[in-house]
Amino acid sequence: MGTDGVDVAAGYRFEGAVLELGALVVGGMVDSGAGIRVPLKAVSRHGLVAGATGTGKTKTLQVMAEQLSELGVPVFLADVKGDLSGMATPGVDDPKVAERAASVGQEWRPAGFPCEFFALGGVGDGIPLRATVTSFGPTLLAKVLGLTAVQESSLGLVFHFADQNGLPLLDLKDLRAVIQFLVGDEGKEQLKALGGLSKQTAGVLLRQLIAFADQGADQFFGEPEFETAELLRTTPDGRGVVSVLELPGVQDRPALFSSFLMWMLADLFNDLPEVGDLDRPKLVFFFDEAHLLFRGASKAFLESIAQTVRLIRSKGVGIFFVTQTPKDVPSEVLAQLGSRVQHALRAHTPDDAKALKATVSTYPKTDYDLGELLTSLATGEAVVTVLSDKGVPTPVAWTRLRAPRSLMAPSDPAVMRGVLDASLLTARYAQAVDRESAYEMLAGRMEKAPAPEEKPQASAVEQVLKSSAFRSMTRTVGTTLGREIARGVLNVFKRR
Ligand SMILES: Nc1ncnc2c1ncn2[C@@H]1O[C@H](COP(=O)(O)OP(=O)(O)O)[C@@H](O)[C@H]1O
Ligand SMILES: [Mg+2]
Repeated sequence: MGTDGVDVAAGYRFEGAVLELGALVVGGMVDSGAGIRVPLKAVSRHGLVAGATGTGKTKTLQVMAEQLSELGVPVFLADVKGDLSGMATPGVDDPKVAERAASVGQEWRPAGFPCEFFALGGVGDGIPLRATVTSFGPTLLAKVLGLTAVQESSLGLVFHFADQNGLPLLDLKDLRAVIQFLVGDEGKEQLKALGGLSKQTAGVLLRQLIAFADQGADQFFGEPEFETAELLRTTPDGRGVVSVLELPGVQDRPALFSSFLMWMLADLFNDLPEVGDLDRPKLVFFFDEAHLLFRGASKAFLESIAQTVRLIRSKGVGIFFVTQTPKDVPSEVLAQLGSRVQHALRAHTPDDAKALKATVSTYPKTDYDLGELLTSLATGEAVVTVLSDKGVPTPVAWTRLRAPRSLMAPSDPAVMRGVLDASLLTARYAQAVDRESAYEMLAGRMEKAPAPEEKPQASAVEQVLKSSAFRSMTRTVGTTLGREIARGVLNVFKRR
């Protein structure tokens, strides 16, 4: 095998549908006839796009997402910097783009893609994404909050108590209200009966929940809950819908970002059937600025990400992490990623040098001097290795990437408004609904509760249980049993 390119190019001829990444560079010259590509089949074996800021990671993501949509595969993009909203708008033909396209053998035509714009809890331009506290469940919430094992099991007891007593946990104030009830005078007996939840731990939980709400989680928890199946849609003309999650300012709220994404993956995992190795993925996620997912996350949370990544593959879902260096990704996750597109790395500081060395050591054997190559790649070039159609790693290939056909900048606000106005999802999700749930039920009970001497036999919870509001709630929210079973399935992430 040599860097002369013949063997390398041969390693990129596959059976079946592919995503064209670009063309091989041989001794600094692009060989427009030597296409470098990923088999569509390999996309559900996950991947990594890495490189320093400004080296072309997001454009690589865009090039892949465009072709997936065109092949009828729905895509989800986490748009941290706002530039991915450009997917909705046809790109601009300028001499640079024309030169790049010609050099890599790409017939470039401008194109916009069928986008939906989402926003976490309605912060930013998009259809608000929300989830209920109950569907989040205590396990995931504990991981997000970085709780200890004892605190986690205490939180589990709070959920159990709420389920048993028909107190729906829809938003964070519901959860806070139930904890407050349990540690208050009226909840004394129930707290004792629960066993295992100390007042002190309850106090910690309350403080953690308040801090979490301050990160913006308050707007995110509630109804109507987002149906993750919406992400799996194609358009009438057979293109995959591109769901773009707009995340302005998420740098300051990484816990919210990562918890929401984990919820979404867990929910999909729950709902999708086991399919084994498909010829084409059902959905592909691109997590741009993925270091935000892992930054400051607890060990338990990192483990559950690794497990999710491993397990969701068999459901036909592919995940691509896009970040500065492979070091940003925990090694258990890194080991699950079949394809790698590595853009230029810096080597200014001793830390950079260490990261570079670590990166080089993870590549298969190659004739390239990777340490040299990785620090000298031009913008929009990368070192690529993917899984072949037979599932084996391809030769390492110095690649010049194709140019995106959609806009390499944010879409105009008017374009985004148009997309939102035309969306069928707006009617379903735009308006938050605050149904009567634990908070209102407990607050109402405290106001209306008769003095103890008048009605000493009924406990506060019994009164809630008997209320007509509660009875109508059990009909709409579903049975306690159903909810506990659903959570049991989500707990698969904990057990494995
Ligand atoms: N594949 C590409 N085609 C055309 N231009 C590119 C490509 N990759 C990078 N560029 C140019 O480099 C700039 C930075 O790329 P970008 O993907 O935003 O970097 P990163 O995400 O790594 O910070 C883009 O705005 C664009 O001008
Ligand atoms: Mg970027």
